Amino acid sequence: MTEPAPQTVFDVIGEDGLTRLVRGFYEQVPGDEILGPMYPPADLAAAERRLREFLVYRFGGPDRYIVERGHPRLRIRHAPFVVNQAARDRWFQLMNASLEKAGFAPEIAAALRAFFAETASFLINSNG
Ligand code: HEM
Repeated sequence: MTEPAPQTVFDVIGEDGLTRLVRGFYEQVPGDEILGPMYPPADLAAAERRLREFLVYRFGGPDRYIVERGHPRLRIRHAPFVVNQAARDRWFQLMNASLEKAGFAPEIAAALRAFFAETASFLINSNG
């Protein structure tokens, strides 16, 4: 007997769940005094799509992000932005608010929250 493959986050919440999560994050960005100015207003829809595609790939869905963007190289791709502790905390706070609103099962929300907390800390590139 082979064990069934464990379900991924993508198996459970799908494209739709990750789309809602990222939408809920980005709808808070333009009005945010720290993050708002960092994101190009004209390109916000494209930025939203990049984050969604990255999460689809990272959590077990199709690898369209890799096909389009190559290796994520997230530290290098965040180098143009000042990611200090305050920016990191705000990013996580907005994502966490979106997570709560999305109403995923507790184990799904916990897996996503842990990944966001860790990755956001890893992306800090400034003391100021
Ligand atoms: C720590 C605070 C963070 C700040 C201030 C920040 C800010 C930004 C900004 C300004 C962009 C450019 C928008 C665009 O045109 O795509 C960006 C891109 C991106 N961010 Fe973040 N980010 C943060 C954390 C994160 C985290 C935790 C993740 C992953 C979970 C992430 C994933 C991405 C991805 C995938 C892109 C697009 C990269 C590409 O393909 O060009 N970011 N981020």
